[in-house]
Amino acid sequence: MVEGGGLRVNKQIHRQKNRHTEREICLFIMEAIRATLIFSSLLLTVLAQKPVVSIEPHSVAVKQDDTVSFRCHVTSGAQPVQLEWKRPNNQPLADNVKVGPDGSVLTIASARPGNQGQYRCVATNTQGKGTNMAILTVKQPPKVRVTPAGQVKVKVGGVSSLECNASGKPRPSITWFKQEAGRELVVVSTTTLTSVTAKVKVTAPQDGGTFVCRAQNKDGTSEEKVELKVEGVAIEPKATVDQTDLTAVEGQTVTMKCQATGSPTPVITWSKLRAPLPWQHRAEGGTLTLSSVGRQDSGQYICNATNSAGFSEAYVQMEVDTPPYATTVPDHVTARRGASLRVQCIAHGSHPISFQWSRVGGAAISSGAKITKEGVLAIAQLKVTDSGTYRCVATNHVGNSETFAIVTVRA
Ligand SMILES: *[C@@H]1O[C@H](CO)[C@@H](O)[C@H](O)[C@H]1NC(C)=O
Ligand SMILES: *[C@@H]1O[C@H](CO)[C@@H](O)[C@H](O)[C@H]1NC(C)=O
Repeated sequence: MVEGGGLRVNKQIHRQKNRHTEREICLFIMEAIRATLIFSSLLLTVLAQKPVVSIEPHSVAVKQDDTVSFRCHVTSGAQPVQLEWKRPNNQPLADNVKVGPDGSVLTIASARPGNQGQYRCVATNTQGKGTNMAILTVKQPPKVRVTPAGQVKVKVGGVSSLECNASGKPRPSITWFKQEAGRELVVVSTTTLTSVTAKVKVTAPQDGGTFVCRAQNKDGTSEEKVELKVEGVAIEPKATVDQTDLTAVEGQTVTMKCQATGSPTPVITWSKLRAPLPWQHRAEGGTLTLSSVGRQDSGQYICNATNSAGFSEAYVQMEVDTPPYATTVPDHVTARRGASLRVQCIAHGSHPISFQWSRVGGAAISSGAKITKEGVLAIAQLKVTDSGTYRCVATNHVGNSETFAIVTVRA
């Protein structure tokens, strides 16, 4: 039993061995079929694949007017593959954007801001579509726009809002500043906004002036000006002259200068107290010029500075010095011995004037003669020897003048 059993066991073992072989063959065949299936399905997968595309470069920033190209590569997918370029929302390609004959190269000639954004390469085959996307940035030098523009009028006590909008890529910094005495005083500035507003509070006329908005990025600078005019305040003029008193010598040219403060800028006029201005005068700005002055030009001159707030006067007192001009009254005297003599020397010219009497020819004036400061020569009792020519010299600080009186004494 045991033996028989052993034999059966052996037979079974043998059968089992045979079965093993069959199974192995079977497994092998199945394996082969599976491999073939995998291979062919792989093959089918490859052949039946949708296209896969990539774009070079993927993202690019160019300066305005530069030319740039994108190339779309098909990395896998069943041929034939059709390539197309698309913009978002099915916008048409701009007129400066061209696609090469095989559809793979897109060229943007002379780029402008409107060319910015996404460019999609769409690849199509029988199995479907594959897409990829590139991004174009067009760098722009800054451009500013100010509102209001040109000139703005504002009343004292008011506030003026000056807005400045700036475009540009990269985003420019924007600054409002005031030009004052050749300097730039920053009012407000931003690096994060596209618009900035300067609020100018006007409390005095000098709060007005020239305001400039400047936008700046590494590709350039742009600026625009606004003139802020303060109106409605007038400041009364105040006139002043360089010299309130002046003295000239006949024949000289005299210049008088007058300045005035006030707002609006005062208008300066010159006049003469109780007389017209000399014929030979020229008034220019605040300066009055008198050519070849004479004695009659002496007097008070008035500078009048006038604006809408009022007027202000400043005075110049001018004296014109003249040398003396002497005469004697009478200039011929005939008298009897023992009579009295009185001759007056008269002089025109700047005062003080002094007089000196003398005799022509060297003889002395009679010891009984009386001479006054006012130029009177008086002899109480004439002698024959008093006959002759008498000289009067009138002198002032400018010069002198001489004149003669002829005296004849009869016996
Ligand atoms: C300036 O920019 C602001 C904000 O960006 C905008 O609201 C405004 O309309 C712009 N102004 C002008 C004149 O373009
Ligand atoms: C100065 O100007 C004012 C205003 O024009 C006028 O009223 C005034 O009389 C002027 N003064 C003289 C001295 O001319």
